[in-house]
Amino acid sequence: MLLFTPGPVAVCKEVALAQTKEMITHRGKEFQTLYKNLCEKIKKMVDATSVHVITGSGTAAIEANIQNALGKDGVALVLSNGAFGDKLASHSKVYYRTIFHRFNNAQGIDLKVAKPYIDQAIEQGAQLLCMTHHETSPGILNKITEVCSYAKEKGLLTLIDGTSAFPAYKFSHIHDKVDFYSWASQKAAACPPGIAVISLSEDALRAIDSSPVRCNYLNLKEYIKKQKENFETPTTPAISLLWALEKSLELIEKEGLDNFVAKHKKYADYVKKEIKKMGFELVVSEEFSSNTVVAFYTKKNKELNALLQTKYNVKLGGGHADWKETTLRFCVMGDVDLEKIKYGLESLKKAKEELGL
Ligand SMILES: Cc1ncc(COP(=O)(O)O)c(C=O)c1O
Repeated sequence: MLLFTPGPVAVCKEVALAQTKEMITHRGKEFQTLYKNLCEKIKKMVDATSVHVITGSGTAAIEANIQNALGKDGVALVLSNGAFGDKLASHSKVYYRTIFHRFNNAQGIDLKVAKPYIDQAIEQGAQLLCMTHHETSPGILNKITEVCSYAKEKGLLTLIDGTSAFPAYKFSHIHDKVDFYSWASQKAAACPPGIAVISLSEDALRAIDSSPVRCNYLNLKEYIKKQKENFETPTTPAISLLWALEKSLELIEKEGLDNFVAKHKKYADYVKKEIKKMGFELVVSEEFSSNTVVAFYTKKNKELNALLQTKYNVKLGGGHADWKETTLRFCVMGDVDLEKIKYGLESLKKAKEELGL
């Protein structure tokens, strides 16, 4: 099946094969070298002070970041424009008094729309701003640099869910003014699901140091301590997936990160152009549109996706959240190329005609 989904995505043979090496244990030199090289490489890619790999899905990394960010009477502001921003708020509410604002109708979050909510939240005691980098439910690229720069200037810590963003978008802790960041293996990194990466700024490390322990498995103090001791993880990691990620980053490095990002943009722009030619309307305005997830309105969305799968061996991402019943998502993450994308689009065109849409 050709996957044009928002994750898990198709994994290339080299990455899949990387998982099949003879197993090693997580206590010993071989693992320490693997883990150190991986963390150091990611650290450089995102200008982080510290990088940790969590065995768990993207949510595990997000929860680890959130619960290690603030003290006992923490107050967080969460800005959302889709299902995953809403989830950030639900995690935040477990630990903190949470001030929440939801932007509807696929409104992208930039400084213009965020500023009044940040100003108001600061008056109400907020210490942390949380939002998604790339809101996957309709594919919105939020303008985190301008929003986080302002929030940091006002003294807030910043926490960004980049689960479906990096490495399809460039990200830098220093340039983007982000303290806590995370992303997951099964999205743009084109690995199987099961691990997620956390990266931290200097301010994040200070905040973690003074936050209370809220849970053992996701206690980042333990991750930091074990790394300092001998570059191991506190518990048994998914070693095979670390090999997969190592291989995937090696391939990205070979291609060049800038080229990797540009390739996604080129593919997404092509998909948008062709989908519009077919007469579909895109959900997200050009200003906030995504490199990876192209949501479009269609009648009979479930029937259309089912026909694509049974007749053409093509699977698109289903509609999600506010857009569940009215859209499909044509995604260009993972092991896809222009030839596969063209086949996916031709199939979509035929299936649309067959359903009389
Ligand atoms: C932006 C974003 N945040 C969080 C998640 C949750 O990730 P996971 O299912 O890996 O826990 C997703 C998954 O699609 C996502 O796209």
